[in-house]
Amino acid sequence: MHVRIATVAFQGIDVIDVDVQVHLGAGFSGLALVGLPDKAVGESRERIRSALAAIGLALPARRITINLSPADLHKEGSHYDLPIALALMTAIGVFSPDQLQPYLSLGELALDSSLRRVVGVLPAAVAAARSARGIICPAACGGEAAWSGAGDIVAAPSLISVVNHFKGTQVLSPPTARIAPAPEIGRDLADVKGQESAKRALEVAAAGGHHLLMIGPPGAGKSMLAQRLPGILPPLRPAEALEVSMLHSVAGLLESGTIASRRPFRDPHHSTTMAAMVGGGTRARPGEVSLAHHGVLFLDELPEFQRGVLEALRQPLETGRATVARANAHVAYPSRVQLVAAANP
Ligand SMILES: Nc1ncnc2c1ncn2[C@@H]1O[C@H](COP(=O)(O)OP(=O)(O)OP(=O)(O)O)[C@@H](O)[C@H]1O
Ligand SMILES: [Mg+2]
Repeated sequence: MHVRIATVAFQGIDVIDVDVQVHLGAGFSGLALVGLPDKAVGESRERIRSALAAIGLALPARRITINLSPADLHKEGSHYDLPIALALMTAIGVFSPDQLQPYLSLGELALDSSLRRVVGVLPAAVAAARSARGIICPAACGGEAAWSGAGDIVAAPSLISVVNHFKGTQVLSPPTARIAPAPEIGRDLADVKGQESAKRALEVAAAGGHHLLMIGPPGAGKSMLAQRLPGILPPLRPAEALEVSMLHSVAGLLESGTIASRRPFRDPHHSTTMAAMVGGGTRARPGEVSLAHHGVLFLDELPEFQRGVLEALRQPLETGRATVARANAHVAYPSRVQLVAAANP
């Protein structure tokens, strides 16, 4: 018997369709996971086994093969737990063969079968909406998914609640979309005494999104002025808010699934590494320059930054995209930022 359940892989904030296929064959009992899984995906076998046991299901004593297709794409992250579990449950008859066809699913399972939040639910839900599918995701990510306009959103706290929802015994109510409450502006530009021309320059830069370099002796108030910039930035437009939130979703920075309402303000320390600044690392996460997309990247003590890090900012600032090269692919994150820098003469 063959079963297919749809899920996704991420390449930057782009979403690639992935199929989870399950085959129950004759032979020794065992569970094989193929399709270039990384360590977190490989370990999902153990989590799924425990989660299924927690809800009273045992895997059949058959030779079970799980394939993540396309097989030549590296799969990383813990969000494959849920689609694999759903595929196995469909294979053993918990769900009817095409009950879950119109859904895309992602989520991490705990050993007690509860569903834990994962990164990237917002872009996944947007992809689901585009292809007129629903999405099954952890309850903690429901608010995020609700922004996509995807038709049917099942935001479940646990695996058993997914079963109950589709059996109709306990239907989950659809999540509501929430906007992050505007955080208190602790620092107000009105606190700055005098400095009229500097304040004017800051206002002009904020209104027009211009880059800004402040040069002055220690104690002149450069850091103080820059910290008051978030308070006078214009609000995000809806399309910008979605784009910013997608980046933050992929980076795991969306708090409690609410969409961003303010322009990001990132002020990395001058000891920041190249990977943290422009993106990269083993999982090619977005860097500070992308997390500041549609907002401000503030580099205090500019000359203290490593030369290589500053050079690496050149391409993202010129093109508005930070390209991260990986062993097997290139990932590009948007990075349209307003650069504000401060230095001593
Ligand atoms: N115009 C001003 N109005 C009110 N407070 C000020 C003003 N200028 C400086 N200050 C005070 O001086 C402190 C030092 O300023 P700040 O740290 O911003 O200087 P800086 O230019 O960043 O110096 P450094 O080059 O050493 O980093 C501020 O925290 C603030 O309390
Ligand atoms: Mg300073």
